[in-house]
Amino acid sequence: MKIVVLNGSPKGDISVTMQYVAYIRKKYPDHSWEILNVAQDIRKIEKDTVAWKSIVDSIRSADIVLWAFPLYYLVVCSQYKRFIELVFERNAQDAFAGTYAASLSTSIHFFDQIAHAYIHAVSDDLGMKYLGFYSAEMRDLLKEEERKRLEKFAALLFTAVQEKIPVQRENDPLVWPALSYVPGTQQKTYKTGTKKVVILTDSDGSSPNLAAMTDRLLKNFSGPVEMINLHDVNIKGGCLGCCQCGYDNTCVYTDGYVDFYKNKLVPADIIIMAGSVHDRYLSSAWKQFFDRSFFKGHTPGLKGKQIGFMIAGPLHQIPHLKEALTAWADNGGCHAQFVTDEVSDAGELDALLDTMAARLIQNAEAGYIPPHTFYAIGGHKIFRDSIYGGMRIAFQADYRYYTEHGMFDFPQADLKTRLFNAILIPLTRIPGFRKKVFADMKHHMIEPFGSVLEDA
Ligand SMILES: Cc1cc2nc3c(=O)[nH]c(=O)nc-3n(C[C@H](O)[C@H](O)[C@H](O)COP(=O)(O)O)c2cc1C
Repeated sequence: MKIVVLNGSPKGDISVTMQYVAYIRKKYPDHSWEILNVAQDIRKIEKDTVAWKSIVDSIRSADIVLWAFPLYYLVVCSQYKRFIELVFERNAQDAFAGTYAASLSTSIHFFDQIAHAYIHAVSDDLGMKYLGFYSAEMRDLLKEEERKRLEKFAALLFTAVQEKIPVQRENDPLVWPALSYVPGTQQKTYKTGTKKVVILTDSDGSSPNLAAMTDRLLKNFSGPVEMINLHDVNIKGGCLGCCQCGYDNTCVYTDGYVDFYKNKLVPADIIIMAGSVHDRYLSSAWKQFFDRSFFKGHTPGLKGKQIGFMIAGPLHQIPHLKEALTAWADNGGCHAQFVTDEVSDAGELDALLDTMAARLIQNAEAGYIPPHTFYAIGGHKIFRDSIYGGMRIAFQADYRYYTEHGMFDFPQADLKTRLFNAILIPLTRIPGFRKKVFADMKHHMIEPFGSVLEDA
């Protein structure tokens, strides 16, 4: 069988993910393997038609296409995203159609399920037969048990392809909103007061609805609003994954990204992020924006901001995209609202945009950020443990930040609870005591709130 690996690491061969591929390859040397560094070589692939054609020919000849990639900001890196965009832009879907696909990632399991949902949906759109994913923690390969698991995954994958098993498409084709948005003439305006508003867009003229929505929302604010197009920011390329920023938050790029982030976004109270759906995510320009913010490591660089996601396209048919944006905001300590053009008429969209503008200002004035959900609570624990442990040497700036902000909140550090447990747990071995404690559990659970309610 011929296995074509689409390497989604910007680091090319010197990639953690490629060690996993190398391992499977070593175990199954009888198959023919071809590894294409499509993320690392994206610039060349964009410009060089011979290179592009050779990649497409390889894919066409594959029995299995293995999407192998590191997680970058809950999905794949911007360079890989761009490769996927090129496939659709250049109508190369037929080279993929009918071929079996699977995905393999390495990460620290921070939203790995979203990345695989994305690749699954893309594979479905390409007419591929997607057989599932393998999501490894980046150091798993060092463990005997995990190596065996990986071998089993590969063996079952190869058997499934040899047996030509049928595969059901899980993601329906996207249906784009029918509306051609022409905003109404009735325009509500809201005073921005002391709040700084930035509208960030990647508009390139390809989505008239996005441009019209942005125009409408801009007029909703009375007061200065800065409008920035990502294409006008001097961003030389996607994150390279070199992790040199981990020491002191200094990025190896010397382009305009860090200045733009620090001087335009950090001072803002409200950031509207305007984009349109490209395949099953936003554009690779938006992905590049997210990826490059990695110079801040695993710290919430935009904490406390009100975020308005204004999206043209079928967002509600792409649950993993909504989840990725929601989880990004939650992990960053922001408050996210969404408006899309999936509406019945222009009047409805006018009203939704008016409301979003009003609520962004109200929330900013009130300083309201909702309580974290599982996305940020779970995410924090993953980061906390990794930065305290194995990732500390690489991410020393994060370690300092977490120490200064009391973010190493391990249960072991909670001395009061430890003392409470140390005394009470042995006592519950006494049947009479235990009976009383457990019989009254409902009251014990509400008891601590008594004083708060009295004082309220
Ligand atoms: C910019 C950037 C973003 C990342 N985002 C995530 C993420 O969202 N979730 C996660 O679990 N790991 C994330 N990681 C960690 C990588 O996925 C992980 O280190 C991976 O094993 C790197 O593989 P590679 O060497 O093949 O590129 C990120 C790393 C970088 C550099």
